[in-house]
Amino acid sequence: MAEAANESNSLTRNAAAKINLYLHVTDRRPDGYHELDSLVVFAGLHDVITLGPAPSLTLDITGPFADGLSSGPDNLALKAAEMLRQATGQPQGCAIGLEKRLPIASGIGGGSADAACVLGGLMDFWRIDPKSLDLHGLALELGADVPVCLYGRGAYISGVGDEIIKAPTLPPAWLVLVNPGVSVSTPEVFKARKGSFNIPGRLEGAPASAAHLAEFLSSRYNDLTEAAIGIAPVIGTALEALKETKDCLLARMSGSGATCFGLYEDSGAAARAAAEIAQSQPGWWVRPAPMLDDTRAP
Ligand code: C5P
Repeated sequence: MAEAANESNSLTRNAAAKINLYLHVTDRRPDGYHELDSLVVFAGLHDVITLGPAPSLTLDITGPFADGLSSGPDNLALKAAEMLRQATGQPQGCAIGLEKRLPIASGIGGGSADAACVLGGLMDFWRIDPKSLDLHGLALELGADVPVCLYGRGAYISGVGDEIIKAPTLPPAWLVLVNPGVSVSTPEVFKARKGSFNIPGRLEGAPASAAHLAEFLSSRYNDLTEAAIGIAPVIGTALEALKETKDCLLARMSGSGATCFGLYEDSGAAARAAAEIAQSQPGWWVRPAPMLDDTRAP
């Protein structure tokens, strides 16, 4: 969550896209949620959150993906703010601005990253003592992906996504994110998943290069891929398009889809691959971005 100072008393923070380098479904809980084993990193692409003084809590959404979103009380960013306000008895409000640059319902945690960014940002904006509350617990109440977005660093996650262990330092690498213009519903994808549970265990060691990382990930998978392709077959087309690009080390779906990513050694290879896909599929959202280990780094 890189931060910039703008007008006095306002904060601007980036809510970075979350990428599941692999995602295994290891069990199903009686409450319907699934236990996961996943390696999460972030991409150098983000929504932008601004927090400014106001007597009450308000949300204004702008940006290329603003249209698909409600700014009402069911918006996760606003829910996060309201939850924190209630938990702390905060008398002040806040004018929240959300510039929605990432596609919605797309497996890269956009809504979760926004909510986490609002939580973390308001802690500073309202000068709340972190020791005074269970922020991780609040994040989890908002959604299974929110705790790791709040953590903001490469992490192995387990449980429903709430058990977080810092990942080893990962090598410099680039990603190309491809969203073929469809939104898929996370509950539907989990529901449609068939087959047994996959419990391969955590990968050990720290890969030294992007190629090593791809090799390291090749024994892992995203267990939601077939279910998501069953709902939106174009996801399979996006994966094929990534695989066919020159220098693609690995192509995989993130989260419950529909966004897929390709892994590349450097920015040049990623830029070439993104340009190639964008040219053949002008209606898709295609972006090259560095893989980030730590979104809090300047
Ligand atoms: O927690 P969140 O609201 O993001 O989850 C959306 C839905 O995705 C849940 O209602 C559940 O159907 C599914 N899910 C799951 N197991 C997880 C995370 C999400 O089954 N670990």
